Amino acid sequence: MLGGFPEISRTDLKGSANFFAKLRREHPSQSANDALQRGVDCGAGIGRVTAGFLSTVCEVVDVVEPVGKFAQEVVGQKMVGGGSVGRVYVTGLEEWVPEARYDLIWNQWCLGHLTDKQLVAYLERCKKAVTIDGWVIVKENMSTNVNGDDIFDQTDSSVTRTDQKFRKLFKEADMRLIKTEVQRGFPKGLYPVRFYALKP
Ligand SMILES: C[S@@+](CC[C@H](N)C(=O)[O-])C[C@H]1O[C@@H](n2cnc3c(N)ncnc32)[C@H](O)[C@@H]1O
Repeated sequence: MLGGFPEISRTDLKGSANFFAKLRREHPSQSANDALQRGVDCGAGIGRVTAGFLSTVCEVVDVVEPVGKFAQEVVGQKMVGGGSVGRVYVTGLEEWVPEARYDLIWNQWCLGHLTDKQLVAYLERCKKAVTIDGWVIVKENMSTNVNGDDIFDQTDSSVTRTDQKFRKLFKEADMRLIKTEVQRGFPKGLYPVRFYALKP
């Protein structure tokens, strides 16, 4: 989970901050420069993104993570920004029904644990949970399969999807793709990583 790769994690967090800042500049809302009231880190792991990025843009960050011992660690993380950890949901995203309204729903390196059908149903729930000026962000590895297929990993039952597959599933969920970009600066040999900014 990048714990042993601080340099990659730093590049990743900086890339996320840059992408989100650009997005907010290009699509200004009334509260363009204010901290967002509530965000959620989905598939948060030990809270690397919560602590290192989301706490810098949100006042409160909720957490969804199915592994209890990871979720517990989030609360003990030192936040880089002024935001704090809010509600912690120990559950998978396929089961999670948002109870709050969110200005930012951040999904990173976790959607491969959902089947295509579960992902579409999940995005449909996100659609109802995002505020009018809010964003659903997906940041995931991209399949590099030469035939343009998704790559299944039997060991952890996850899937690395193609860019085309993600776009197809966003359409199925009736989410609009507003901006997409590849994360820069990662070492060669890793899967390319792509951001998608979505709105209902
Ligand atoms: C590679 S880690 C990424 C953690 C964090 N998003 C980050 O970028 O540092 C994948 C995380 O997805 C979580 N996960 C596994 N199955 C999941 C599911 N069904 N729903 C949500 N998260 C899941 C794992 O427990 C793990 O914490």
